[in-house]
Amino acid sequence: MAIRRIVKDGDEILRKKSRPVEQFDQRLWTLLDDMTETMRKADGAGLAAVQVGILKRAVVVEVDDQLIELVNPEIVSVKGKQRGTEGCLSFPGKWGTVTRPMHVTVKAQDRYGKEFTVSGSELMARAFCHEIDHLDGKLFVDVAEEVIAD
Ligand code: NI
Repeated sequence: MAIRRIVKDGDEILRKKSRPVEQFDQRLWTLLDDMTETMRKADGAGLAAVQVGILKRAVVVEVDDQLIELVNPEIVSVKGKQRGTEGCLSFPGKWGTVTRPMHVTVKAQDRYGKEFTVSGSELMARAFCHEIDHLDGKLFVDVAEEVIAD
């Protein structure tokens, strides 16, 4: 595993749409392992492949010690609302108030290509939405009510 460089605000790759993953091979597994290590080192709750410069539809999310790898994820249902503070490893020191669904169910593939669905609430639901947005070039600053720098 290796720590990769996190792409920061202003790099136009963050605005690009990521491509579906078609090969579930060692290259993907290394990418996912590196993303997890990079996310943990940066003390984040999630990371999308585009944030390490790879335009593939893959994200990792870790909330309450539960690590979830999502390949080709799609949100299939949402319920409720939550309003709270959100940040992004590509926007160090910036925070915004973002309203997200309280409960989110995602359909995805695992690192071997097997389909599964997973549901999350509160911070996990927020992380699912935030990271999946990254795959379409959408950033939290687009949907935040206000953005503050600390
Ligand atoms: Ni982010």
